[in-house]
Amino acid sequence: MKLANRLNDFDAYLGTAMNLVLTKMKEEGKDVINLGLGDPDVIPPEHMRRSLADACYASDSHHYPSFYSPMPLKEAIAAWYEEQYGVKCDPEGEVLPLLGSADGLFHIHTCLLDVGDIALVPDPCYPAYKAGVTIAGGAVEPMPLLKENGFLPDLDSIPPETAQRAKMIWVNYPNNPTAAHADIRFYERLAEWARKFDVAVVSDNPYSEICFDGYCAPSFLQVAGAKELGVEFNSLSKAFNSCGWRVGFMLGNRDIVAALTKIKSHSDRGMFYPLQLAAMAALTGSKEFMKERNAMYRERRDVVVEGLRKCGINVDRPKGTFYIWAPLPKGEENSKEWCFKVLDGIAVWMIPGSMYGKCGEGYFRIALTHPVERLAEAMTRLLNFL
Ligand SMILES: Cc1ncc(COP(=O)(O)O)c(C=O)c1O
Repeated sequence: MKLANRLNDFDAYLGTAMNLVLTKMKEEGKDVINLGLGDPDVIPPEHMRRSLADACYASDSHHYPSFYSPMPLKEAIAAWYEEQYGVKCDPEGEVLPLLGSADGLFHIHTCLLDVGDIALVPDPCYPAYKAGVTIAGGAVEPMPLLKENGFLPDLDSIPPETAQRAKMIWVNYPNNPTAAHADIRFYERLAEWARKFDVAVVSDNPYSEICFDGYCAPSFLQVAGAKELGVEFNSLSKAFNSCGWRVGFMLGNRDIVAALTKIKSHSDRGMFYPLQLAAMAALTGSKEFMKERNAMYRERRDVVVEGLRKCGINVDRPKGTFYIWAPLPKGEENSKEWCFKVLDGIAVWMIPGSMYGKCGEGYFRIALTHPVERLAEAMTRLLNFL
């Protein structure tokens, strides 16, 4: 048997391999602090869990979900975007529920790219973008995200001949892994650029609800005419503390929504009906819990920022996401080597920046998905280690 060559062109998701390493260390009795995990340690609100549990007991909940109309969920998603951003989407043609946003952001490449087509992808970035481009036979054209540009892509530095050949451009703010944020002016410039070169904009916005210090993340779809230019992904995973539920969605351009619906009509049969009901409960219910939850992340952020500064590592206080993107300590150059040295030395795992792309080298990422005491403990261990 010979597996397809295309599997050699991208790596498996790093988290999966590291979970095995960390589980083994724990089994050996090590007190491991895993600061790599982008998965909230807090749970979804009561009304969401109740709705899911109740729906599971209904005898008609267990059929192929496509036998049910997903319209009410699409309407709830559209209503949320209207309430949150003033963006109006037609629930039938401009909204698509997904099995986690990763479902859509991996498969969208099969809708937008023919073999050899260029996709502009941020570097560093969430790894599924590159894997998705590669599996669709496309070519990744990296857009460096540099500190001096606030970790935003410099659109003017993309050579016009590359822009003319590109079919799609990925953007993700608030950003994983850099924790950088964008304002609406960035999206306006992006829209102008995308219109000029006829490139589809794909905005990934799963951290939209995790913002601090008065910052509210905008949506690309708020820009006038954005629906002609592209789509936006969002998700309940981080916003509603429910990564394990696999509930996400895509909104925007009608043709892209129709194309991805076609792909998904073969690759899955829609979302488990009780999850649809629980997602509706989440989107239409109270979002008060987010205030307290975000205050919790903000406190954690401050503890880690202060802790790193004590270690001589200068980091900015991010306005969004639950990540800290920090430069390596002075004298260190290889993020992978350093992160494994730290893991060996003090059983604290942080993700090497190089795992997110060449321009991530020189950095590491910390996830704030542990109680504040545990984060403080990790910082104390790091200070002693250094
Ligand atoms: C930038 C980014 N996009 C998408 C995802 C996937 O989210 P979901 O759980 O909705 O598949 C993640 C998850 O960490 C992410 O960081």
